[in-house]
Amino acid sequence: SDSEALKVMISGAPASGKGTQCELIVCKYGLVHISTGDLLRAEVAAGTEIGNKAKEFMNAGHLVPDEIVTAMVAARLSCKDVKQKGWLLDGYPRSSAQAESLEKMQIRPDVYIILDVPDEILIDRCVGRRLDPVTGKIYHQNFFPPETEEIKARLVTRPDDTEEKVISRLNIYKKNAEAVSSSYSSITNKIDGSRPKEEVFKDVESLLSQLQQDKVKIVKAG
Ligand code: AP5
Repeated sequence: SDSEALKVMISGAPASGKGTQCELIVCKYGLVHISTGDLLRAEVAAGTEIGNKAKEFMNAGHLVPDEIVTAMVAARLSCKDVKQKGWLLDGYPRSSAQAESLEKMQIRPDVYIILDVPDEILIDRCVGRRLDPVTGKIYHQNFFPPETEEIKARLVTRPDDTEEKVISRLNIYKKNAEAVSSSYSSITNKIDGSRPKEEVFKDVESLLSQLQQDKVKIVKAG
C-alpha cells in the first residue's frame, strides 16, 4: 500500500483489555476504531434488523453468524475516513471464515497484536466491568472506578459479563484463536496484558511508533 496510515489488528481473550488499549491508541494515533462488539451492541440498542438477529447470540456468549458480522465490517472499512486515518480492528476476525473474508477483500494489517492474559484474571475483569453509556468509556468497579458519583450512577453492565457466559466466551475464543492467528503469524506481536494498562500501552506505543516511522520511510522512498 502507498499510504502512511496505520492498519492495526488487536486480538485477545474476552476482557484481555482490547477496548481499553484501543481508547489509548485512538487518542494517540487517531486511527478509526472498528470494534465489532461495539458495532453490534449499537445495532442491538437501536433495535435494527441486524441487532435483533445478533442479540440472542451475544447474550448467550456465542459468536454472531459470520455473514452478519462480515457485512458490517466491510461496510465500515469502505468508509472514506478509514482510508485517510488508518484503522484499528478490534474483535474481528474471530473465526477462520472471517479471516478468509478479509483475505478475499485484500485487507491485511501492518501488525497483529495479541494481548496475552491468564484465564484466572479474565473472569474478574469481566465480572467487574462497567460501561458508561454516555461516553462509551470502560470502567472496572475495583481497578478503574468512575471519577464522579454522577458517572457511577449511570454505569451499566453487559448482559454477557456473568461468570458462566465469560467461561463460554473464553472457550470459544480458545477454540478459534490458533486458526485465526495463523493467518498473521509473520506480523504477530504478543504483549503481556496482565500488567497495569499504562504499562501495556507503553509496549503498544513503542510498537506502533516504530511501525509508523518505517511506513513514512517506505512512502518517501517509493
Ligand atoms: P466483544 O465486545 O468483542 O467482546 P470480547 O472479545 O469478549 O472482549 P471484551 O469487550 O469482553 O473485552 P476487552 O478485551 O475489550 O476488554 P476491556 O478493555 O473492556 O464481543 C462481544 C460479543 O459480540 C461476542 O461474544 C459475540 O457474540 C459478538 N461478536 C463480536 N465480534 C464478533 C465477531 N467478529 N464474530 C462473531 N461475533 C462477534 O477490559 C475488560 C475489563 O478489564 C474492564 O473492566 C477494564 O476496565 C479492565 N481492564 C482492562 N485492562 C486492564 C488492565 N491492564 N488491568 C486491570 N484491569 C484492566
